[in-house]
Formats: sequence, structure tokens, C-alpha cells
Amino acid sequence: MSESLATVSYIGATILFILSLGGLSNPESSRRGNLYGMIGMTIAVLATVSGPRVTAAGIPWIIGCMVVGGSIGLYASRIVKMTQMPELVALMHSLVGLAAMLVGFANYIDPAASAHATGAEKAIHEIEIYIGILIGAVTFSGSVIAFGKLSGKIGGKPMLLPARHWMNLAGLLIVIYFGRQFLQVGSVTDGMTALVVMSVIALLFGIHMVMAIGGADMPVVISMLNSYSGWAAAATGFMLNNDLLIVTGALVGSSGAILSYIMCRAMNRHFIAVIAGGFGTGGGMPAAASGGAQPAGEVVPILAAATAELLREAKNVIIVPGYGMAVAQAQHSVYEITRHLREKGVNVRFGIHPVAGRMPGHMNVLLAEAKVPYDIVFEMDELNEDFPNTDVAMVIGANDIVNPAAQEDPTSPIAGMPVLEVWKAKTSIMMKRSMASGYAGVDNPLFYKENNRMLFGDAKKMLDEVLVALKA
Ligand code: TAP
Repeated sequence: MSESLATVSYIGATILFILSLGGLSNPESSRRGNLYGMIGMTIAVLATVSGPRVTAAGIPWIIGCMVVGGSIGLYASRIVKMTQMPELVALMHSLVGLAAMLVGFANYIDPAASAHATGAEKAIHEIEIYIGILIGAVTFSGSVIAFGKLSGKIGGKPMLLPARHWMNLAGLLIVIYFGRQFLQVGSVTDGMTALVVMSVIALLFGIHMVMAIGGADMPVVISMLNSYSGWAAAATGFMLNNDLLIVTGALVGSSGAILSYIMCRAMNRHFIAVIAGGFGTGGGMPAAASGGAQPAGEVVPILAAATAELLREAKNVIIVPGYGMAVAQAQHSVYEITRHLREKGVNVRFGIHPVAGRMPGHMNVLLAEAKVPYDIVFEMDELNEDFPNTDVAMVIGANDIVNPAAQEDPTSPIAGMPVLEVWKAKTSIMMKRSMASGYAGVDNPLFYKENNRMLFGDAKKMLDEVLVALKA
């Protein structure tokens, strides 16, 4: 393929990636968005492999790597459960970071890569390598730790070392110092020393940054690492002089940054503090450790039959799904109940919190899979004011996102986080298996509210029982 045809293909792929992002912003167009992304990526890979920069000798290597990588990816995506998606995404981000690091080192060692560059051009190329490896290393180690935390292999408690901000600052100064050295050295061997030292510090910084973040703040970390992985890819694009990689990386980097901002707002965090890896010490700490007021009172349990009765008599119902619905795979039962109630003239709507579940859009994906109509699925801000006019608010496997302590207890670790105000409904019903706390490890005073009922049990099992009772 000629250089100009490859460029045209890259432009086509870029347009498809932009259309893909546009499509993914709405559940109704998300399938189309995915399709655009897949076509764009196929064009990008074909144009690169058959482009002028790949020699015939390199083709078997590329095909071999694609077969191995593709098979692992296919296998992983087939066995991964929906609830494990965030871990898989974190692992994939780590691979982008690792790739950026390896490309950076290879590019520096490769004599052909900068053979003709001199003066400013050479300096710019070396800066690209240095920054590319730096972002790649932070993304790599940070994502590996995020994977460990999300999969429960590493505890969710924040690791707060003494003087941690000073340590980060010292790391930054060392990285700047060695960056200067790197640009001044004459030989590749000396340059490698600076690169290796910087890489070790960047890897340690990535570990330190994510280890310092408490479990409840992980959603922001995921989208932030997503953004970092985009910038790592863009840096790789600069190193390799590949425009498509630069544009794609910038798209991922900026969309990840926007998502991080939305997540921060949803969790009442400061964006700048997140970028610096410097959450407040209270952020995400389990309740026991940070000492929020302990809720107390009487818990009123309810059975499936009585729940069905309440739903049958209701005119307005809001369903709030959470992580437990995903664990129980209860979305199809939720849909059946919704359909039944709507047929009887009940106004059923869904309230989705931006960080419900374990990944952005988690609940929307599940509800779409169960064919819940999009026009009855609302974001938190769209229906939070409607709870006082709601007869039944049914919380299905959610906990932190409906915790009134966020508003009522300034000492709570989740104080200030916007939540769905289900307790303002005439009756709220919480469907979960026990009195256990949610992801943030914070006790929930909602359990003890006078108008709250607890429907204990696995969400799917209980919903199926409710459906049977409704139909009886
Ligand atoms: P959580 O606060 O984690 O609560 C989920 C509840 O579901 C648990 O209390 C659990 O109680 C219940 N549950 C688990 N399995 C169940 C089952 N089979 N049947 C019925 N209930 C079950 O979830 P949430 O309200 O969706 O809030 C999300 C939390 O995750 C937030 O703290 C958020 O910051 C964090 N987080 C979010 C993301 C993203 S991007 N969305 C990523 C990482 C972390 P029992 O054990 O008593 O059943």
C-alpha cells in the first residue's frame, strides 16, 4: 500500500473512531458506535500492516503476534463475567502502558530511528521517548495495582505512607533531573541509565498513586488510568511518527479525562487532586477506620408477597439498581416485573447513579441487555426530585449510592457524595442478602429508616418470588 493510500485509510479510521465515541455516548446508538470502532480499527490495522513502513520480513512476526494476542483476548473476553469487566479493563490499560514503555526503549536503542536527526529534531525525538516511557510506566504499574484492588487480590484500604506528597515531589524532581541528563548524554549506554532510573521511579509512582486511593474512589482511578493509557498511546504515536496513533491516543486521553471529571463530580471529589494522585485522607476510607457516626435503630424486614402487594398498589415506582443486581444477574427478572407493572398502568422508572456497579455505564449495559426501554431509564439528576411523589422506591442490590449518610453525616467518609434520595419515597424497599455494607465499607442508615423495608435474599431469587406473587 502506498504512503498516500495509507494516509487516506488513517483519515477514514480517525473519522470512524470519532463517530464511534459519539455513538457510545447514548445507549440507543451504542451498538452502532461499537461497530464504527471495530471497522475503524480493522482499517487501521490493515493499513498499518500493509503500509510502506512494514517490510516483508516483519509480516510473519506481526501475524504471529496478532494470532497469539488475539487468541488470548478472545479467550479472556469469553470467560470474563460482567462483574469482572473493570478488572479486565484495568489489565488492558496496563498493556497499553507496557507497550508504550517497550516501544520507547526499542525506539531509543534502534539506530535507524534517529539516525538522521540532529540538533532540535534529535532533542524533540528524545523528549518524546522520555515522556512516552514515563507515562507508559505510570500507566502500567498503576493499572496493575488497580487490577489487584478491583479483583480483591490487594486490599481496598488506602495505603497512606507518611510524607507521601513529599515523596511524590522528590520523585518528580529526580525524573526532571534525569530527563536533563538524558538530553545531554552522548552515548546510548549513558542515556539508558537515565531512562532506567526514570522508569523505576515512574513505576513506583504508579504503584504509590493507586495504593493511596481508597476502594470507594476506584471509579475515578479507572477512568483516570483510561485517560493515561490514551496519552501513553499518543506518546507512542509521536515516537513512531504515526498520526493515527497520535489522534486515537488523544481521543482516548481526552475522553478519559472528561469521564474522570464526570466521575469526580458524581463522587464529590476534586479533579486536580485526583490527577495528582492526592485524595484527601478521608476519601474512601472504610467507616470503621475513619469514624463516621454508627447508624442504629430497628430494621423492618419484608417478604416477597408483601413487596408485591406494595408494588401492585403503587402508582409511581422508581427502581434503583446497583452492583448486587449485576452479581445476581437479576436484570431479566427486573424487566419482567417492570413489564408486568407497566401493563397494569404503574409508572415505573429507573434511577441510575453515575457510579452504580463497578464500571461506568454498568447498569445501563445490563438494563439494555434485558431490553428495558431506554425512555424509562433516567440519570440521578433527572429524577432525584421525584422521590417525594413516589410510592415505592425499590433498591436492587445497591448500597453506597442510596446512603443518606452522604447528606446527613458530615463525618461520614462519603459525606458530600450525591446519592439517590430513595428514603424520600413513601416506602423504600432494599433488596440485598444481609446487613453488610457496600463497596465503600460505610454503614447505611437507610436500613433503619421508618419507611424502609428490607427484603433479604439474592436479588434474582427475591425478584422471581415477587413476580410470582404479582402474577398470582
Ligand atoms: P455497593 O455499594 O457495592 O453495594 C452493593 C450491594 O449489593 C452490597 O451491599 C451487597 O449487600 C449487595 N449484593 C451483593 N450481591 C448481591 C446479590 N446476589 N443479591 C442481592 N444483593 C447483593 O454498590 P452500589 O450501590 O452499586 O455502589 C457502587 C459502589 O462501587 C460505589 O461505592 C462506587 O464508588 C464503587 N465503584 C464504582 C465503580 C464504577 S465506575 N461504577 C468502580 C469501582 C467501584 P449484601 O452482601 O448484603 O447482599
